[in-house]
Amino acid sequence: MNLTVDQVSKTYRDKTAVDRFSVELNEGVYALLGPNGSGKSTLMRMLASVLKPSSGRILLNNRDIDTLGEEYRDVLGYMPQEFGVYNSFTAERFLRYFASLKGLGKKEAEEKVDKLLTLVNLQEDRKRKAGKFSGGMKRRLGIAQALLNDPKILIVDEPTAGLDPKERIRFRNLLSDISKDRIVLLSTHIVSDIELVAKEVLLMKDGFLVKKSSVDELLNEMKGMVWRVFVDDGEAKSLTGRHQVSNVQRTGAGTTLRVISEEKPHTHAENVDPILEDVYVHFFDEGVEADV
Ligand SMILES: Nc1ncnc2c1ncn2[C@@H]1O[C@H](COP(=O)(O)OP(=O)(O)OP(=O)(O)O)[C@@H](O)[C@H]1O
Ligand SMILES: [Mg+2]
Repeated sequence: MNLTVDQVSKTYRDKTAVDRFSVELNEGVYALLGPNGSGKSTLMRMLASVLKPSSGRILLNNRDIDTLGEEYRDVLGYMPQEFGVYNSFTAERFLRYFASLKGLGKKEAEEKVDKLLTLVNLQEDRKRKAGKFSGGMKRRLGIAQALLNDPKILIVDEPTAGLDPKERIRFRNLLSDISKDRIVLLSTHIVSDIELVAKEVLLMKDGFLVKKSSVDELLNEMKGMVWRVFVDDGEAKSLTGRHQVSNVQRTGAGTTLRVISEEKPHTHAENVDPILEDVYVHFFDEGVEADV
């Protein structure tokens, strides 16, 4: 299976949200990572065929998804970032309703709904109204909804936002399980989601694809560039002014900084192993403010 995004752009009146984005996706989990407003949701909506690109093409196995139409939507599962539930529907009724929209037969739907409620850990709450659910529970219902038709392509926009750690782990395991013969694209700001499941990370900035690499490659490329140094407040200020800083830890005696720099930033600086947060700061230049 191959999903090709070919020079896809989306321009709103005065704003290019996605800018000539090209990528090829195959079976596996891909994490879309980028700051707020970088175009992730816009790209995902186009991939989910709820939004038409201003230009460019999206192809599934060399066929335009626009031409595929219903055939494409049959193999697609999508959970939007702002996932709304019908407040007066119970969890099971909500899923049954979507199952019928997706064309599942009654018996098939019943089995599927039951299985998915277990999968997202909502069995006990299946008869409760979704309007009374917590944010995380609504999200889990959204995930179940996206999986109803056993999609070959699963696009989930910030699926783990608001999930507690236990449910996040459950969701990650679920993704790993189902990704063997599927294309899964998820956007997230949560580093552990990416580290543990993503085959590749797509870094997105200002509508562009900045980089596509595995987590290991990203970390390897930053080897030797991440430093830890303990300094007094004056030096901390000067270092944060000159370098990208991915962490600031203040203690009574001074400040420990995590500095990203090609060259040794300070005589006392020591090299440390990069983590994904360093990668994020490096690419998106959103270092923490030292405030010293
Ligand atoms: N319907 C719209 N009309 C006009 N501009 C829009 C519309 N939707 C999105 N945008 C703009 O497009 C840009 C990208 O938005 P998008 O929601 O795709 O970003 P994002 O990466 O998903 O951000 P976040 O991490 O906050 O979810 C933003 O500048 C946003 O203001
Ligand atoms: Mg978004």
